Amino acid sequence: MTITFIGHGYVGLVTATVLADFGNKVWVVGHTKEKLDRLKKGDPIIYEPGLKELLQKNLKANRILFTSDYSKAIPESDVVFIAVGTPPKNGGEADLSAVFKVAEKLGKHIKPGFTLVSCKSTVPVGTNIKVETILKKVKSKKAEVAVASCPEFLREGSAIYDTLNPDRVVIGSDSKKAIDKLLELHHPISGKRVITDLASAELIKYTSNAMLATKISFANLISFYCEKTGADVENVLDAVGIDKRIGRIFMDPGVGYGGSCLPKDVNALIKIGESLDIDTSYLKGVVNVNSLSRSNFTNKILNVVKDKKIAIWGLSFKPNTDDIREAPSFYLINELLEKGYSIRVYDPAAMENFKKIYGKKIQFGKDPYGVLKNASALIILTEWNEFKQVDLKKIKKLLKKPVIFDGRNIFEPKVMENFGFSYFSVGRKAISPPRHSEGV
Ligand SMILES: NC(=O)c1ccc[n+]([C@@H]2O[C@H](COP(=O)([O-])OP(=O)(O)OC[C@H]3O[C@@H](n4cnc5c(N)ncnc54)[C@H](O)[C@@H]3O)[C@@H](O)[C@H]2O)c1
Repeated sequence: MTITFIGHGYVGLVTATVLADFGNKVWVVGHTKEKLDRLKKGDPIIYEPGLKELLQKNLKANRILFTSDYSKAIPESDVVFIAVGTPPKNGGEADLSAVFKVAEKLGKHIKPGFTLVSCKSTVPVGTNIKVETILKKVKSKKAEVAVASCPEFLREGSAIYDTLNPDRVVIGSDSKKAIDKLLELHHPISGKRVITDLASAELIKYTSNAMLATKISFANLISFYCEKTGADVENVLDAVGIDKRIGRIFMDPGVGYGGSCLPKDVNALIKIGESLDIDTSYLKGVVNVNSLSRSNFTNKILNVVKDKKIAIWGLSFKPNTDDIREAPSFYLINELLEKGYSIRVYDPAAMENFKKIYGKKIQFGKDPYGVLKNASALIILTEWNEFKQVDLKKIKKLLKKPVIFDGRNIFEPKVMENFGFSYFSVGRKAISPPRHSEGV
């Protein structure tokens, strides 16, 4: 099959590369020359484990091609995926301008005969119908076009694995031809097939992300109860999660959810609800707890660390990605900079992206230990594997004061106590906290 992806971000590039690896010819359409030049040379631009190697392999085989020219890619294609960004507008609703713009551009080049166009981008209910209207308005008379919603559920950090092994493939369309085409395309991919109508497919994606955000905010809410009562949030959630109706997965207390999807999609769902006259206070509560989990953690630091030199491990919104969009680290770093703290940071993948924003306002280290010297505290914001079994003796030696704030609960409090750390995590008892007035 010949396929086009419009957009080469975390969704477009990964999915395009995996489909090329199955033997399809895949065009990727972008709109920035410099980025397209890098992609043509095998530089994926984003960091995603395994992507560079897979991209280079398929470039060599001539199965994946990059262009800004719609007239090269679209007329050859059986399937066109729109995978452009749908970022939040100021009010929180999804900005669909890129989706509609590319629909108009691609529609003009659809070949005579059948072409399927599908939104991989996360879009509100009704968007695919609007895309269809645009396509039908601009296409040639002989071109036959059908639309389908095929939302994407990959997770950054394991995007290639998820593309090959999704829990489900959702296909929403009124056109049997479109559904059959997508079933054929997904043949080598595992996962349960969910065939449905357009509106349901579009809503499934927002519902999934709202549920994921709910699980994190629920865990954080319970962590607040634990901190006030002396209970241990991990024990509480472990026991609660044994119940099969509830489950433990993704109920992770910490510094809150971030990234390019959960915050924007929950806010977009609130806006969709408001436009439909639905009470959205439940979802607003999810957002509110997320903000509280960040400020609660930051306040612990502000209350304890008086000598304002600190080290931070982890900037990306989660491990195994360089994506920093809406990362909790932004909130925390901005708060601490405003209060006059000097900050040294280390992250295995996201530092280049952070440098573009903070420049010299914070210092960047080359390895985790390098940023600790003379710092009054270490703050952990992302649970990268490389932080989980670090040399605690070495950390204690390098830090000016043995104080750790763990925003992802990666260490056991008992172990930290045995090593002589003051240890502050989320929803668990603080270990040997210095008296408030003393500070560190
Ligand atoms: N990142 C994820 O984990 C994930 C998972 C599932 C769904 N999604 C959804 O998929 C969509 C894309 O997400 P992403 O993370 O890949 O975004 P991204 O920001 O990484 O990539 C967006 C791409 O769209 C391109 N683009 C924007 N405007 C364009 C235009 N006018 N013409 C051509 N290209 C244009 C950009 O150049 C970029 O390559 C979003 O709707 C997102 O919500 C993302």
